[in-house]
Amino acid sequence: MTYRIVLVPGDGIGPEIVDGAVAVLNAVGAKFGHTFRFETVLAGGCAIDTFGVPLPEETLKACLDSDSVLLGAVGGPKWDTLPGHLRPERALLGIRKELGLYANLRPAKLQKELAAASPLRADIAARGVDLLIVRELTGGMYFGPRGRGQGEMGENAYDTEIYSKGEILRIGRVAFETARKRGKKVCSVDKANVLESSRLWRETIHALAAEYPDVACSDMLVDNAAMQLIQNPSQFDVMVTSNLFGDILSDEASQLTGSIGLLASASLGEGTRGMYEPIHGSAPDIAGLGIANPIATILSAAMMLSLSFGLAEEANAVEKAVETVLASGARTKDIAAGGAFIPGAEMTRRIIEAL
Ligand code: IPM
Ligand code: MN
Repeated sequence: MTYRIVLVPGDGIGPEIVDGAVAVLNAVGAKFGHTFRFETVLAGGCAIDTFGVPLPEETLKACLDSDSVLLGAVGGPKWDTLPGHLRPERALLGIRKELGLYANLRPAKLQKELAAASPLRADIAARGVDLLIVRELTGGMYFGPRGRGQGEMGENAYDTEIYSKGEILRIGRVAFETARKRGKKVCSVDKANVLESSRLWRETIHALAAEYPDVACSDMLVDNAAMQLIQNPSQFDVMVTSNLFGDILSDEASQLTGSIGLLASASLGEGTRGMYEPIHGSAPDIAGLGIANPIATILSAAMMLSLSFGLAEEANAVEKAVETVLASGARTKDIAAGGAFIPGAEMTRRIIEAL
């Protein structure tokens, strides 16, 4: 089969980590007899520099015409002072929205060998971390009405958290369906003790839970969830939550695994086309130094293989190769816990060798 993949390397370390994932995909293609056709487009800060806008028409069109999108990272200090609608991050939000990618899957799994890189206390780490955050991605505060005005205390600004039943149902279904293939537990995270939008969220998830009697469903307030992730992370299987809460909790969860440089994500909508990206940012401070960890992007490519292309065996081979290389003791700087480390490109090479 031939698959058309649009690459959006973006800014900072984006290009180097996307290179790593492309090398791995090519190796998978050679081994399993698939052809991956790549088209590279600009989005984010580099697009602002070239076209004056973060998400050029052509980039969006290429994404819409692709079988899937692989994104590195966007943003950097150079573009931090631009107005909201011109910031690099708009590119990401625009692709998510225009492609209808409402479900963001962010798995966080602690590998035994990396327990030393995790800030968790040894006895907590020993109980394991293997959870999946299902984050709603095209609604909530990120996309609600916003603006600025004047109030009694001077200028004010607002963003609005708004969720419809339909949006909650469709993300809830993704969570329950995914839980069926994993540990059969869904924990819905909200702030229903304060927010009306969370009360609708909770009611809707409860109604949906009745359709999935084989999946255990619970609720947790987001502040408590933030605490439980540190205190007792092994209790979680699938966590489903809003766009904003999911953004925050997934960064927290990533740290439990040792490094945000290991965490992959998939963004999906109704069809098979998705966008795949590491959950970390563009790390401008280390861009071009060759030390960025390519694993999160490589694992994102693996998610593309299984979730968008139905190539489960191939995806599994990539995941196994990453595990093998980490088990062999190879470390990039972010997971070296102060010890010896190898460059990102060398990490990629070893993963391909293990494949
Ligand atoms: C993420 C990022 C983005 C988000 C930013 C860059 C817009 O933090 O993918 O988690 O907030 O969704
Ligand atoms: Mn984030």
